[in-house]
Amino acid sequence: MAKKKRELRSAQWFGRQDIYGFIYRGWVKNRGVPQDQFDGRPVIGICNTWSELTPCNTHFRTLAEHVRNGVLEAGGFPMEFPVMSLGETLLRPTAMLYRNLASMDVEESIRANPLDGVVLLMGCDKTTPSLLMGAASVDIPTIGVSGGPMLSGKYRGTDIGSGTNVWSMSEDLRAGKITLSDFHEAESCMNRSHGHCMTMGTASTMASMVEALGVGMPGNAAIPAVDARRYVLARTAGRRIVELVKEKVTLSKILTRKSFENAIRVNAAIGGSTNAVIHLIAIARRIGVDLSLDDFDRMGRGVHCLVNLMPSGKFLMEDFYYAGGLPAVIRELGANGLLHKDARTVNGKSLWENNKSAPCWNRDVIFPFKKPFKKNSGIAVLRGNLCPDGAIIKPSAATPKLMKHKGRAVVFESIEDFHKRIDDPKLAIDKNSVMVLKNCGPKGYPGMAEVGNMPLPPKLLKKGVTDMVRVSDARMSGTAYGTVVLHVAPEAAAGGALALVENGDEIELDVAKRRLQLLVSEDELAQRRGKWKEPKPPLERGYWRLYFDHVLQANEGADLDFLVGKSGDFVPRDNH
Ligand code: FES
Repeated sequence: MAKKKRELRSAQWFGRQDIYGFIYRGWVKNRGVPQDQFDGRPVIGICNTWSELTPCNTHFRTLAEHVRNGVLEAGGFPMEFPVMSLGETLLRPTAMLYRNLASMDVEESIRANPLDGVVLLMGCDKTTPSLLMGAASVDIPTIGVSGGPMLSGKYRGTDIGSGTNVWSMSEDLRAGKITLSDFHEAESCMNRSHGHCMTMGTASTMASMVEALGVGMPGNAAIPAVDARRYVLARTAGRRIVELVKEKVTLSKILTRKSFENAIRVNAAIGGSTNAVIHLIAIARRIGVDLSLDDFDRMGRGVHCLVNLMPSGKFLMEDFYYAGGLPAVIRELGANGLLHKDARTVNGKSLWENNKSAPCWNRDVIFPFKKPFKKNSGIAVLRGNLCPDGAIIKPSAATPKLMKHKGRAVVFESIEDFHKRIDDPKLAIDKNSVMVLKNCGPKGYPGMAEVGNMPLPPKLLKKGVTDMVRVSDARMSGTAYGTVVLHVAPEAAAGGALALVENGDEIELDVAKRRLQLLVSEDELAQRRGKWKEPKPPLERGYWRLYFDHVLQANEGADLDFLVGKSGDFVPRDNH
């Protein structure tokens, strides 16, 4: 017997010729949709994270219009819908707390509606992983469209980059090197167009991951938000998603182990954000790819940083785009045997077919693999008694001479404790100390804040100290830099060894050997553990409570335990 052809999901709403069909079609017609749009053409969701509370995504209404035009041109039926938007700068305590909540919104919004394919509009840091995680759990044809970076910041004749120069200027302000009015002027000079942070921070890293994973169109990573070519890309994605639905290319056919391994290498080659580690693991586990921290260390070894971009280097995303953008980087990796060339992408070609002829126009910005910008830039995964489930460091953002270091701990029990004491001239700390910050992990903060790159004490800044070893269970902004050990797992609030560190304990970091050791005897640690008290949930109710009870540790992507895996694209029962 011939296999029954699977009809489009949307047919179970709009294809009905009964009272339900009347209801499903009729109400959609109230905005002027003619009957012929319900003729069985693919219905494409445009998942929009536009919000004035997410400054990086405020041009997304325009972006959505370009996707819509593309969908219409290809004979699809576009239906735009909003989901929770996560703005990095305004949300408290941290946007990361809500990444998993937003992903649930995306997952349920897609599944519960008559959608055959979806285009995800994402820009600011957490909007990318939350949308990909939600879409992965449903697994229908999907294309990611990033909003693009802002134009380069320009301040008194020099380029300034999002985040990176915020950190350096705030340290200059604290050290008395610049005035408050200089500081205010720089704010307006930095953010002068639509778009997300234009350093190789988390947003640009994740936009690069979208392209490297093959879930975005070629060029997705770097076209500036206000460049007309960003809108062409959105329109092309709108056209292409209609084809993907017809070709039945679901997200799991794109997001394979090969595509994640490609993404890990691309992340190393762009000196990408450490946040990509958590997000890629979370996305992979939603789609059934068992990605682990060790994959990052293994796949990243021998990969060099090819881009001279802030925070590791000097240029900005706009320069990167004009120099050839991510395609030029992917080409270098492929030409040096560091890519799964046959990994499939949403435009119907393999990753290598898309990028094998990509030109590079500026070797000051994109370096050749044989003469890299920085050697060995993969994420290093550390183990030891201080982080039995792992911790990470980004060597390309660290000071080489601190990568092997032994020093005495100066412990901060929380970020509030840190802020209270760091400016105290009597703080017992010197340049060899190891700054330790506790209770900033997934459970502890809650939400795993980007505070791992603790600012240095002013008294050492004034002496010209520019970097120190810092260890925490926190994350670090992708625009920050320094010899910063992050994502210590288990975190302090989950009873990890980090909770037991005391002032004056010796800590040894050896990045080459991938070791992080607390040089305290087992007996002493056992005694301290006996006195440790488990923290209470920060709130007894609502999402915070759900998060506290179910969040996984950083090495597992900090997803909620019950969201790992996919539920699929089944059509829920009628409402009538
Ligand atoms: Fe949105 Fe940096 S604040 S990307």
